[in-house]
Amino acid sequence: MNEIKTQEKDTFRSLHFSIFGAGSIAEAIVRGVLAKQLTEPSQISMINRSNNERLLQLQRKYGVTIELSSEGKQQLLQEADVIVLCMKPKDAAGALHELKPLLRSGTLIISVIAGLSLHAIEHILGPVAAVRTMPNTSSTIGLGATAICCSDAVNDTQRAIAMAMFEAVGIAVEVEEQHMNIVTGLSGSGPAYLYYVMEAMIQAAVDGGLTKEDARDLTVQTVLGAAEMVRLTQEEPAELRRKVTSPGGTTQAAIDVMNTHHVGRTIVSAVHRAAERSQEMEHQIGREIE
Ligand SMILES: NC(=O)c1ccc[n+]([C@@H]2O[C@H](COP(=O)([O-])OP(=O)(O)OC[C@H]3O[C@@H](n4cnc5c(N)ncnc54)[C@H](OP(=O)(O)O)[C@@H]3O)[C@@H](O)[C@H]2O)c1
Repeated sequence: MNEIKTQEKDTFRSLHFSIFGAGSIAEAIVRGVLAKQLTEPSQISMINRSNNERLLQLQRKYGVTIELSSEGKQQLLQEADVIVLCMKPKDAAGALHELKPLLRSGTLIISVIAGLSLHAIEHILGPVAAVRTMPNTSSTIGLGATAICCSDAVNDTQRAIAMAMFEAVGIAVEVEEQHMNIVTGLSGSGPAYLYYVMEAMIQAAVDGGLTKEDARDLTVQTVLGAAEMVRLTQEEPAELRRKVTSPGGTTQAAIDVMNTHHVGRTIVSAVHRAAERSQEMEHQIGREIE
């Protein structure tokens, strides 16, 4: 993980962040940034479309600035050094059109909106320093995996600001924009693939006579332990698998069944199909915006 440099830390603390959209991913980012003490709550404002109760709840919980009036919301956007777009893809075009007349030059735009390309952002806002990101749901517990890509106008400090923001909720890697769809297929949708595998493992254990609770506890710890083994030993998953698979043993018997049913190939196809779907959705958002 990259350490944010002292100078960039100071820059981060000096910036005014406006979180535009106040749902679950917005809250995860704010929680992470504050927990890592990258900035103070007074430097962060959160706004949404209409759910005042949600904003008041976020203000009570994190001490961030909120605005309920549309003039107040507009002012926060106007004053922000960094605007983080956190609305659903269907609401992105409307929000970008709202933002356009308020945008100061030099403001950094960071988007977490799936399928919203840098080109689509620039189509509405004009040439702008914009960072497109793809976080995942585990960001809400600080174990997210986020990919980011930057428009040409993004400078090194802005890139470091964006990386630090997502490293506050897990790990972050920079990729070429053309790879955002495969990232979506991998880490964006990935938690659900593992939930699916876990569902099946729990079911198998219950069928074998275990209580649901024991089956769940053992499955969760098995998945956690396997991920940590890969992370801590830095060994390839294939090598770790080879080490625990004795010829003629129980693991080998299970892997033989998986091979017979082409489970590995099926997972590859599933990730690619998700990436393809992500591209279709990106095109659709692009068409709506243009
Ligand atoms: N959740 C995840 O794990 C995750 C992972 C990767 C990417 N993302 C991306 O993150 C984005 C947000 O997802 P989410 O799950 O956080 O959504 P969410 O919980 O539904 O929150 C969406 C927020 O956007 C606000 N909003 C909608 N239109 C707006 C507008 N015109 N101006 C200001 N605020 C507006 C909503 O305000 P109101 O409630 O007032 O309408 C709400 O606060 C999505 O684009 C998604 O692709 C999420």
